[in-house]
Amino acid sequence: MIKLSVNGQAHTVEVAPDTPLLWVLRDHLQLTGTKFGCGMAQCGACTVHVDGMAMRACVTPISAVADKAITTIEGLSTEAGLHPVQQAWIDEEVPQCGYCQSGQIMAAVALLAQTPKPTEAQIDAAMSGNLCRCGTYQRIRKAIHRAIELKGA
Ligand code: FES
Ligand code: FES
Repeated sequence: MIKLSVNGQAHTVEVAPDTPLLWVLRDHLQLTGTKFGCGMAQCGACTVHVDGMAMRACVTPISAVADKAITTIEGLSTEAGLHPVQQAWIDEEVPQCGYCQSGQIMAAVALLAQTPKPTEAQIDAAMSGNLCRCGTYQRIRKAIHRAIELKGA
């Protein structure tokens, strides 16, 4: 039995301690916005936040996050509306097939939370591990700059 906090809600799941967080999110909690891409920490499709830091859910054992605050794409918006990064993604019409985009957004949100006005090099460093087979990288970059404006940094 493992206790979890996901998007501010407490959950208890009965899984082996080495079960990847990604499977718990998708299969046990039905939070399917977090995607499975490579399963090997190589693509970023499964990016979530653990205590505010971007992490790869596919290679994170559930036992490692039992007492931490986990946020998924489903937890970004509030009653007040979309997160500025989500709004920027819409404004810049970033997604193509969309498969990588929740991971991209989670990586961008973590970046801007830690570095509200990142340099181009900092954006590169934060986003380089998130792959997009549709090649939306230019729009991702524009959306990050738009999100910085929306956040009023
Ligand atoms: S599915 Fe986790 S990094 Fe690719
Ligand atoms: S939008 Fe298709 S993989 Fe990124």
